[in-house]
Parts: sequence; structure tokens; C-alpha cells
Amino acid sequence: MSVTVVDHPLVQHKLSLMRDKDTSSANFRRLLREIAMLLGYEVTRDLPLAPQRIETPLTGMEAPFIEGKKLVVVPILRAGLGLADGLLELMPQARVGHIGLYRDPETKAAVEYYCKLPDDVADRLVIVCDPMLATANSAVAAIDLLKRSGAPRIKFMCLLAAPEGVKAFTDAHPDVPIWTAAIDSHLDAHAYIVPGLGDAGDRLFGTK
Ligand code: URA
Repeated sequence: MSVTVVDHPLVQHKLSLMRDKDTSSANFRRLLREIAMLLGYEVTRDLPLAPQRIETPLTGMEAPFIEGKKLVVVPILRAGLGLADGLLELMPQARVGHIGLYRDPETKAAVEYYCKLPDDVADRLVIVCDPMLATANSAVAAIDLLKRSGAPRIKFMCLLAAPEGVKAFTDAHPDVPIWTAAIDSHLDAHAYIVPGLGDAGDRLFGTK
């Protein structure tokens, strides 16, 4: 099990701006994209490199390039789209899969309503992103689905986590490492992260 809190000052500063209830949707969206790039830098730190011959204007050299197939970014709809934007700015050639889940009002279980993944997801590293790891029901269901689709290497990136979500996630998928900007205090009775930042999807898309 691996949980990395990216405590870089730029990440923490931008996260504090995002938490502020008076931050506009436009700024919230921009800050989420910027933090996604900073977290993405850490999430991709161990990508393997292989040398390729190139010519600089001065000479030939063996230059390191990222090896293997392009990775897949998988946002969990809808708030995950905000993190995916930043990751794609960092890695424009990445493939993109989408997973849509809603919470069954009776059972509270995550129910899949949309899933579109690259055919060869089994050959690629997958980065799943969702800003809020609260109960972890959606994240666990998304990873279940990806594993059933054959994805052998999966990483999970979020903006904020609750201790309850980290525990549920790592109990279900101890092999999937997590990167987050912070682990907050707890979940409230409505499963909101406290102190948190409210509803990430609503703040991202201005729906409240
Ligand atoms: N989802 C959100 O958008 N916010 C929370 O605090 C918890 C889940």
C-alpha cells in the first residue's frame, strides 16, 4: 500500500485558494488543472526511459525518451474531468478512457452508467483521477472495473482524501498507489470531506 501526499508549497497554496468558498468557478477550474500538472509530475516520476538516437544541431547522442505505449488517463465522471485536463496538458499524447458512476440512492453502491476504455488498456499504465476520495465507493468501483478489463498497472490521483476513503480504498486495492494533495480530517454525515472544499463537480462546472 502506498499513499503519497504531495506537500509542495505550490500545491498547498493552490489548494488553499480552491478551498476558499469565494473562489470563482473559472479560478477553481484553472487551479485544479495546475495542481493536476504538479501532481502528475510526481505520479509519473517512475516512468521507464529508453535511449533513442537523435541529432542535436551540434552532434548525435543517445537521448532518453519515455518507453512503451502511451499511458491512459481515466477520469471518473464528472469531476475527474478537471484533473484529466491538467494531465493531458502534461502528456498530450495520452489516451483517455471515461468511467461514469452514480450512487444508488437505496444501497449507496456505485453503479456504472458509462465506460469507454481503449481496447488495449491491458498493455498500458492507467492513471485514474477523481478530485475527492471521500467514501471511496466510486474509486473502488472504477478500479474494480479496470481490473476486470485487464488493466495490470493502475495509479490513482486525487486532490483531497478523507482518512475513511484512504482506508476503504487501500483495503480494497492495496496494489494501487494513491497520490493526493492532502488528507483532511474526516467525512461529515453527508459524506462530504471536512474541511474540504464542498462539491468539487459543482464548483468546477458552476452548477451551484
Ligand atoms: N465529493 C465532493 O465533491 N466533495 C466532497 O467533500 C466529497 C465528495
